[in-house]
Amino acid sequence: TWTPANIADALIDAVADQIGDGRAICGLSGGVDSAVAAALVQRAIGDRLTCVFVDHGLLRAGEREQVQHDFVGSTGAKLVTVDAAGTFLEELSGVSDPETKRKIIGREFIRSFEGAVSDLAGESADGESIDFLVQGTLYPDVVESGGGSGTANIKSHHNVGGLPEDLEFSLVEPLRLLFKDEVRAVGRELGLPEEIVGRQPFPGPGLAIRIVGEVTADRLALLRKADLIAREELTAAGLDNQIWQCPVVLLADVRSVGVQGDGRTYGHPIVLRPVSSEDAMTADWTRVPYETLEIISTRITNEVPDVNRVVLDVTSKPPGTIEWE
Ligand code: XMP
Repeated sequence: TWTPANIADALIDAVADQIGDGRAICGLSGGVDSAVAAALVQRAIGDRLTCVFVDHGLLRAGEREQVQHDFVGSTGAKLVTVDAAGTFLEELSGVSDPETKRKIIGREFIRSFEGAVSDLAGESADGESIDFLVQGTLYPDVVESGGGSGTANIKSHHNVGGLPEDLEFSLVEPLRLLFKDEVRAVGRELGLPEEIVGRQPFPGPGLAIRIVGEVTADRLALLRKADLIAREELTAAGLDNQIWQCPVVLLADVRSVGVQGDGRTYGHPIVLRPVSSEDAMTADWTRVPYETLEIISTRITNEVPDVNRVVLDVTSKPPGTIEWE
């Protein structure tokens, strides 16, 4: 019978066969798939795997630490972090269009990743090259990119960390035959912490596509605070199982009048977008209890400067998409 333990063993053996005594590299996004793929490969080839984490500055609170401490602590994997937040911000400056943001982020991601790869190749004392690139491709991704679905491309989407074109690697895709729930089970089997294994989907372009308007350091800081409050309270209310994901969106170009303390405010709205879904293709807005919404709204307006209004998105998909951009 197939248990997470023997699936993991079989995948580790297959990776060991594929890579032999070669070296591999894996980009970590902070998400489940790349973490589980990397953990499997680490078990198979140990320190001949190097993980690369590009911190683009668009992550949520605590996510960098999760990769650097929790992932490394539970796997022992070798990790290189690239601090690219400044570059990403500069490149995004003045840009409001969602698809342009995605293109810039995709391009800069590949640039940072390539930079890390050539640094590593230069450092390798024995002159051994890195021949393998690990990717956390799942079965549904394989099916989707087979082009069979016939659905229109609504957003340029997916995997910011696409394969750098001019790097010659053999692909290692240990999760190719698995569905998401199986990936989580294997991750738990490998001892990855629940915060990583149970993480809800989060888009590669990160908070950049949750700021409607230009991305700036101040806006990112503000959104990060609001997002953390929403996550904390939804978790505390025991709603994580019901919610597929809950984008928290800053309407940076909108201001509305409010009153707080003894003064008039003129601040931004934060949108809560909790959705329930099976596969993100369709979604319904989650009926979060009023009490929880109240706590989130009070905390965000009290604790996040320049935000004076919290609104709830009650649109299903279709016609809305899950993300606002
Ligand atoms: P939409 O907004 O199209 O989102 O209903 C469907 C799912 O895809 C995620 N998403 C992305 N993921 N890069 C990603 O890696 C992207 O550019 C991107 N845009 C949307 C979204 O979070 C949801 O899970």
